[in-house]
Amino acid sequence: MSAVIQEKLKSTDINPFIGSHVHLSKDDLLGGEHASDLRQLLEERGVLVFPEIHFSDEEQVLFTKTLGELAPERAGELLYKVTLDTKANAQADYLKGSMYWHLDGTMNEVPILASILSAKVLSPTGGNTEFCNTYAAWEQLPDEDKQMLEELRVEHSAWNSLFYYDPEPSLAKAREMMAIGERVLPLVWKHRSGRKSLVIGCTAHHVEGMGSRESAELLIRLREWATQPQFSYSHKWSVGDTVIWDNTGTMHRATPYDPASGRMMLRTKLQGEEPFA
Ligand code: OGA
Ligand code: MN
Repeated sequence: MSAVIQEKLKSTDINPFIGSHVHLSKDDLLGGEHASDLRQLLEERGVLVFPEIHFSDEEQVLFTKTLGELAPERAGELLYKVTLDTKANAQADYLKGSMYWHLDGTMNEVPILASILSAKVLSPTGGNTEFCNTYAAWEQLPDEDKQMLEELRVEHSAWNSLFYYDPEPSLAKAREMMAIGERVLPLVWKHRSGRKSLVIGCTAHHVEGMGSRESAELLIRLREWATQPQFSYSHKWSVGDTVIWDNTGTMHRATPYDPASGRMMLRTKLQGEEPFA
């Protein structure tokens, strides 16, 4: 990252391969004049943390729109409640999958570019959000692995992630998730920028053309590789923090927390700008 951009954004690195704190004021962020530098820093660092910036709902929407096109969760719903409390979010059960390493939107042709998450209510225990840099994880692989992996394709599905949090689902539940379908994605995403990142996580069911054991071993090995400490960052939230992650070059997960804790995060999303390729 250029020292000039770091200075303009008052940013400091968190870990060598992932994460930067950005210390700009709320007015500086909402003004939009730093948007293209922030986008560049996001691509390079994977995760940007704005400590205790305390955006209101309107400010979070405004800030999101300075960075790109806001992708509503559903028509008219700009902010989405990320909580396991089914009283606050009727689809809270689906969010149980967020406790396992994943990308957002592997079921979409064009996955979202980035998510912007703000902490409103914390859980007294657990509830960190953890990230790993899948660009860096790819780049640091030995060349022989890169050659072997480069052209592989992996079937992903939401129903595969169901088994992580509900190992013996009812047939009705399984069918509900199966209705979302499956998608075959490249294991290695070749971005327009020329960079490459790994596409894995809890929606990955199997590697095409491989036996079940060989496929499982490979997916587990790559998860272990990508989530090593040097590629990872665990964010311990304070109320008012906002964090953005580059959903095209990172994976993330929540660490376990009590669904009754009241933990409440508000999320906005940026429309994806390139399909998996
Ligand atoms: C998400 C997500 C993790 C968390 O919002 O997509 O996975 O810590 N959230 O709540
Ligand atoms: Mn997620």
